Amino acid sequence: MTSDDVALWNREAPAFDEAPDHGLRDVGVRNAWRELLVAALPPAPARVADLGCGTGTLALLLAEQGHVVDALDFSPAMVRLATEKLDAATPAVRSRVTVRGGDAAHPGLAPASVDVVLCRHVLWALPDPVAVVGRWVVALRPGGRLVLVEGSWATGAGITARRCAEIVGEWCPRVEVRPLPDPALWGGEVDDERYLVVGGSPTSR
Ligand SMILES: C[S@@+](CC[C@H](N)C(=O)[O-])C[C@H]1O[C@@H](n2cnc3c(N)ncnc32)[C@H](O)[C@@H]1O
Repeated sequence: MTSDDVALWNREAPAFDEAPDHGLRDVGVRNAWRELLVAALPPAPARVADLGCGTGTLALLLAEQGHVVDALDFSPAMVRLATEKLDAATPAVRSRVTVRGGDAAHPGLAPASVDVVLCRHVLWALPDPVAVVGRWVVALRPGGRLVLVEGSWATGAGITARRCAEIVGEWCPRVEVRPLPDPALWGGEVDDERYLVVGGSPTSR
């Protein structure tokens, strides 16, 4: 993590939610993400770490479903927007979410402390992703899971599903990849590679 990276995301923050899949302002897009994540997560209430949470949209969506979310981002501007969003939420949702500054690569989670590590569109940009995922898996309770949303985008940025599955497979005995071509998730047609990877942690250590 460099100060340039943080500065870049601070600059992105004010307009971040304008992308349909970021702000989930369109009810159809919001419903599509809710359906996807509810199916990928264990039943609520699960303890979820949302690493690189951005403006907190997914953290709040999951808290609305009854999950308890520890949301973290290294960009103070993102953390500020996520906190404002949380302040505007219902008391029940507010009581289930914490937002804090921190590095997703070293999130400071206690071993075996969460049921889910959720990370959308962040892993691809982290140095040494194999080591990072290893730290995340240590934070999972027995039977917990990684839920990663990534892509190999038309811009040339990102990580392929194959490579992402290999990285997760270094640590997780079960890895599932689900392509996400559905325009409902993105607010329009996409022609690049977008996907969900779920990695199941060992059921015991
Ligand atoms: C593409 S946005 C995704 C935000 C959110 N996960 C979502 O899907 O709406 C990437 C986010 O990850 C954050 N980020 C990138 N690298 C990070 C790191 N090493 N530690 C914490 N946050 C990071 C950025 O500040 C930004 O908010």
